[in-house]
Amino acid sequence: MATPLPPLLSLLTLLLSFSSLFRPSLPSSDSFLYGGCSQTKYPPNSPYESNLDSLLTSLVNSATYSAYNKYTVMGSSPQDVIYGLYQCRGDLAMPDCATCVARSVSQFGVVCPQTSGGAIQLQGCFVKYDNTSFLGVLDKTVVLKKCGPSIGYNVEAMGRRDAVLGSMGGASGPYRVGGSGDVQGVAQCVGDLSMSQCQDCLAEAIGRLKSDCGTAVYGDMFLGKCYARYSTNGAHVYSKSDGPSHGDSEKTFAIIIGLLAGVALLIIFLTFIRKIFGGNGK
Ligand SMILES: *[C@@H]1O[C@H](CO)[C@@H](O)[C@H](O)[C@H]1NC(C)=O
Repeated sequence: MATPLPPLLSLLTLLLSFSSLFRPSLPSSDSFLYGGCSQTKYPPNSPYESNLDSLLTSLVNSATYSAYNKYTVMGSSPQDVIYGLYQCRGDLAMPDCATCVARSVSQFGVVCPQTSGGAIQLQGCFVKYDNTSFLGVLDKTVVLKKCGPSIGYNVEAMGRRDAVLGSMGGASGPYRVGGSGDVQGVAQCVGDLSMSQCQDCLAEAIGRLKSDCGTAVYGDMFLGKCYARYSTNGAHVYSKSDGPSHGDSEKTFAIIIGLLAGVALLIIFLTFIRKIFGGNGK
């Protein structure tokens, strides 16, 4: 009897490579929101450049096990010191957080070529580095403001929007979600802020969202260290459970895991059968 194992193992390999094909391309948490860069540039092949490389590597590695982290890379001279951090959105699972941070880190070379400081915000994560310390420093500068088209003066819808924003403002913790009817909201601080700094930042973002976005169907207010967003009527989707593509990728992943489990069971079964028949055949 020909051994059944090699074809099964190559099927397993095939399925595994399929799963790695499906996984990275689907989550919408990787789409780009904004990038900001410092005016000053570092010289190519400088110690600063290699420190930046090791900083970004540390950030990507850390994102496989933590939703937030900060690092300081000490140079041999004071001007080579570099500070950096990342923050994943509160609802992102660990593999998606790592994928998001890796994706934004890979965009620095294009968005901020050789600049001594830079920040990139994707839907699911924020990454920033600089040669002056910004860690633990509250920054309420508006970096991205987007208001959707107006829905006209709809008292009821605006009342729900204000209630959702109000409940997020009154909540505690660095990641806040709210919802009422067709209105959804999300707000988050970067993890280096203290509780009171975070509250201060979110109050500003939420206040600006109300005043600047008026009766818009959705609003995005990103400040230096926090953001608040809302949407009505599915104008925007924020949380990963609402992203249809993400749901699909999780389904695909579940199917692949199921197939893998089936194949593993089959291998165990066939090995068992082979042992029995192999033993009898002697
Ligand atoms: C940051 O880097 C720029 C460009 O190399 C340099 O001009 C500036 O002095 C640096 N700032 C600090 C605090 O080292």
